[in-house]
Amino acid sequence: MFFLTFSFSLLQLNYDTWCSSGALDINGRLVSTGGYNNGSDTVRILDLCDTCGWEEYPGALGNGRWYATQVTLGDGRFMVFGGRDFPTYEFVPPQGQKNTRKDVIDFNFLVETHDPVENNLYPFVYLSTDGNVFIFANNRSVLLNPNTQTIIHEFPVLPNGARNYPASGSACLLPIMLKPNEDRRVIPAEVLICGGAPHDAYAKADLQRPKVFLPGNTDCARLDITKRNGKWKIINMPSARLLGDMVVLPTGDVLIVNGAKTGSAGWDDAREPNLNPVLYKFQTDGTGSKFTVLNPSNIPRMYHSSFALLPDSKILIAGSNTNPGYFDDALFPTEVRVEKFSPHYLDPNLAMFRQEIIVEKSNNQVKYSQKFTVQIRGNGEIDQQKLQVTVYSPPFVTHGISMNQRLIQLGIVEFNKNVAPNTNNIVLQAPMNGNIAPPGYYMLFVNYNGVPCRQSMWVQFLP
Ligand SMILES: *[C@@H]1O[C@H](CO)[C@@H](O)[C@H](O)[C@H]1NC(C)=O
Ligand SMILES: *[C@@H]1O[C@H](CO)[C@@H](O)[C@H](O)[C@H]1NC(C)=O
Repeated sequence: MFFLTFSFSLLQLNYDTWCSSGALDINGRLVSTGGYNNGSDTVRILDLCDTCGWEEYPGALGNGRWYATQVTLGDGRFMVFGGRDFPTYEFVPPQGQKNTRKDVIDFNFLVETHDPVENNLYPFVYLSTDGNVFIFANNRSVLLNPNTQTIIHEFPVLPNGARNYPASGSACLLPIMLKPNEDRRVIPAEVLICGGAPHDAYAKADLQRPKVFLPGNTDCARLDITKRNGKWKIINMPSARLLGDMVVLPTGDVLIVNGAKTGSAGWDDAREPNLNPVLYKFQTDGTGSKFTVLNPSNIPRMYHSSFALLPDSKILIAGSNTNPGYFDDALFPTEVRVEKFSPHYLDPNLAMFRQEIIVEKSNNQVKYSQKFTVQIRGNGEIDQQKLQVTVYSPPFVTHGISMNQRLIQLGIVEFNKNVAPNTNNIVLQAPMNGNIAPPGYYMLFVNYNGVPCRQSMWVQFLP
């Protein structure tokens, strides 16, 4: 038996945030856009101080944004794409200002990818390392130049069903791997899209009686979005999954959690919870990448489930509500239990590899390309070959799209051993610019022998 002590305060919201979008800004404030009903054109900001509350700006967006995706650009601005009934996008206005209809840009791609049951809401949107914005909706994807607002490339169609709400596959940007004294003009960036459902899954599960729950997709697809001739590489998961979430771990591997094996997103529209997380071993060339099935939870995490990567490298898992309200007596009751998942790297037998970051002896505010030092303490000699330093931007997680989730492996420029007993300095190079790492706060992890440090350190990248 153990006890937790904590305190909490209630944050008041006046405009509906249901199925909204969001991101952290350069100063670490949470800027959330859209939502339902009177919240759909609202921008709301939560600052960091203990007593801060939400500041809400209703009417700040030019269109309603319900089931839209927000993305951060290299200069720190936000764009927000789509949302129910609005196949458009816009730049989020500066605090206190309002967009009008003139600030809304028509986006025919979202008209073209709209099935009779949508299948293109919460599009998967990621900033590429070249400053263009990758947008995936239903089974198609394009690169948009945010400055000229033109589509500069369309990638091949991804066959085998639909991937966005309500077919609800999930997506992530794979780790961006930097070298010390980086001089490459193009830094590769890849997306991974997993699961989803047939185009008519929602029609069968939600609109038809009796309900029919079609099997979800078992495939994942990987694409280099910096190549104009990029092609999808298909890989199979051990089991079908829709309504899942993809966590990019501090080590660069991808954990797929939550979700179901059949049906669709929507009220009571999915069955067969997929209780087993799976681990996708990331390798840059993809050849040795494979899946491992991990130990199951006993809590179904269906529609409306979520996660957060914690500073100790565990994963907080929460949510699941497939009912139009808080229901205790449904097939899948509204879930209020929160659980933590400990990945393989937290095996007690590996504890000797866990390093401690000495925050007072480390730089935690760094300009792009600048060299900076992180000090670590641990047991015994460190073999530099087994050291890896990554930075992670905490995402806004909902509906399988973890907005702005980004893991970047930094180049190690220098390694200075034994600056004090069991203490070593790592000299790193910050990412070259905001297209590689948008400005703001990142969790910095030092991994040794594949085992993350005890606690991540916050580092802020600035122009
Ligand atoms: C917005 O709508 C919700 C119901 O969806 C209501 O409770 C709330 O009072 C409304 N907010 C304002 C400012 O009118
Ligand atoms: C892509 O989706 C559309 C429906 O939006 C469908 O008509 C088309 O057949 C799909 N393409 C492939 C290759 O699956």
